[in-house]
Amino acid sequence: MNYRHAFHAGNFADLVKHAALLRLLDALQADQAPLRVIDTHAGSGLYDLHGPQAQRSGEAQAGVVRMMAARPDALNDLTQAVATANDGAAEPWLYPGSPWLIARALRPGDTYLACEMQADEHARLAEVLGGRPGVRSLCGDGFAEAARALDPKGRNLVVIDPPFEKADDYDRIAILAGEVLARAPRTAFLIWLPLKDLETFDAFLRDLEDACEPAPLLVVEARMRPLGDPMKMNGCALVLINSPEGLEAPLQAAADWVTAGKPGAEARVWSLG
Ligand SMILES: C[S@@+](CC[C@H](N)C(=O)[O-])C[C@H]1O[C@@H](n2cnc3c(N)ncnc32)[C@H](O)[C@@H]1O
Repeated sequence: MNYRHAFHAGNFADLVKHAALLRLLDALQADQAPLRVIDTHAGSGLYDLHGPQAQRSGEAQAGVVRMMAARPDALNDLTQAVATANDGAAEPWLYPGSPWLIARALRPGDTYLACEMQADEHARLAEVLGGRPGVRSLCGDGFAEAARALDPKGRNLVVIDPPFEKADDYDRIAILAGEVLARAPRTAFLIWLPLKDLETFDAFLRDLEDACEPAPLLVVEARMRPLGDPMKMNGCALVLINSPEGLEAPLQAAADWVTAGKPGAEARVWSLG
């Protein structure tokens, strides 16, 4: 496996994902019951925007750098978190990934398991998360570990964010979601996807809907350009399963800001099931 999230950290797709993650965590924590968060594809947790990989791709410029310059209300939670990760510096040089954001949001009694398959990424992740109460990381296959780690009677959030380098990533997501809901029906999910072509996206949504029935799905699409060339990442999407009510408007506002000003771009939030 070659995927390194350091090339993409803080890009437009991370903004959509992490703004939604913070909103979802906040909404789930309105319930007093402890929350167990399981992150199947954690990455290394904190990314150096001045490092060679981020500098080579330049993707953060149109993402977190633009966001921190504009400080939009629609991405206020994420802007605050990035500012904290950078000790309040005017220009960000660190981008906090899902593990950093989740660990920071935990309440006493909440727990977090972060799975990462690549040993060097996991070593960095363990350093970033080290010593936080309720937090554990594991170097291994998150698809295989997630169902085992659930609290079957309690409230869980499963975050699924694969690199999509393998053709079976879509199938494994749908299979895992079905297995998890059979064991722990009170589980919410945040799933990230690249948007390349409509056929792949629609087929995945149909499979996911079948696997998760009757749980409701909320879909967020941030199309950066028309889905014309299936070899390109033309945008990104999120699927939230069993998410609390009231997230449509804030997620639409966040995706609207990310896609604003790009010719042919559009953002949509819609329900399924
Ligand atoms: C998109 S990155 C994760 C970014 C992270 N979720 C975030 O938002 O900060 C995907 C990560 O999944 C890891 N990975 C790939 N296949 C995996 C698997 N089966 N189980 C666990 N981790 C995996 C990759 O090494 C990579 O670090």
